[in-house]
Amino acid sequence: MRVVVTGASGGIGSAIVDLARSRGDYVVGISRRRNNADAQYGCDVLDLPCLEAAAREVGAVDGIALVHGHGDAAAWNKGVEDLEARDFLKPFETDVVGSFNVVKAFLRNLGPGSSIVLVSSTPAMVGDRYGIPYAAAKGALIALTRSLAKALSPIRVNAVALGPIATRWTTWISERELEGFRERTLLKRLGSPREAAEAIYWLLSPASSYVTGAVLVVDGGESL
Ligand SMILES: NC(=O)c1ccc[n+]([C@@H]2O[C@H](COP(=O)([O-])OP(=O)(O)OC[C@H]3O[C@@H](n4cnc5c(N)ncnc54)[C@H](OP(=O)(O)O)[C@@H]3O)[C@@H](O)[C@H]2O)c1
Repeated sequence: MRVVVTGASGGIGSAIVDLARSRGDYVVGISRRRNNADAQYGCDVLDLPCLEAAAREVGAVDGIALVHGHGDAAAWNKGVEDLEARDFLKPFETDVVGSFNVVKAFLRNLGPGSSIVLVSSTPAMVGDRYGIPYAAAKGALIALTRSLAKALSPIRVNAVALGPIATRWTTWISERELEGFRERTLLKRLGSPREAAEAIYWLLSPASSYVTGAVLVVDGGESL
């Protein structure tokens, strides 16, 4: 396959880059920092002209994994009294508008049967006392996934809803809170970036050819 991965410099994005390359795929990585893809573009997902220029160079692709995400620990830890309207704008911009921008820029590169995967999170489904702007933006990503699945068929569009995955995100929180995360999963542990990448890769690949508009929960049973 030829695939585009955004967030390619991140914990889960770099795991997808490595997984896809190990399976012989050609990977285009998009992130502001360097990444390990075969070709890389240092675009911000809010910079549509940069994404469009990348799309013109890259040519036809079989799939896009949208693995970028807003990571602001400060907004994550705010309770209702401390949250302000502007705390909602960044997560919505990066996750929702950024994902839409990438799809729009690469639309002509995608043929029938190709696949787009968005990355949501379990708080989108079950809510979260903290990380309220994050949960709301990730919920919007599920609505975006289903809308794009309808609008772009026969291009397939799916999402994963990830539970706690051990990346830099899980270094923001105390050992006590981490223990709480582990305890809430049925498997009593965090997931690895590789486990998240395997699920995203399955949705990207023809192995999931009859799946569209779906949300695949990859959370060790946390949301049950
Ligand atoms: N880790 C978890 O427990 C967990 C759980 C549920 C869902 N998720 C989701 O999984 C995705 C990946 O998370 P991760 O844990 O791998 O996080 P990460 O290591 O912080 O990676 C985030 C990636 O997003 C990119 N990014 C952020 N803002 C960007 C922008 N404006 N333009 C372009 N790229 C941008 C970053 O690249 P640059 O900074 O180089 O641009 C980085 O590659 C996110 O959507 C996250 O919400 C993670």
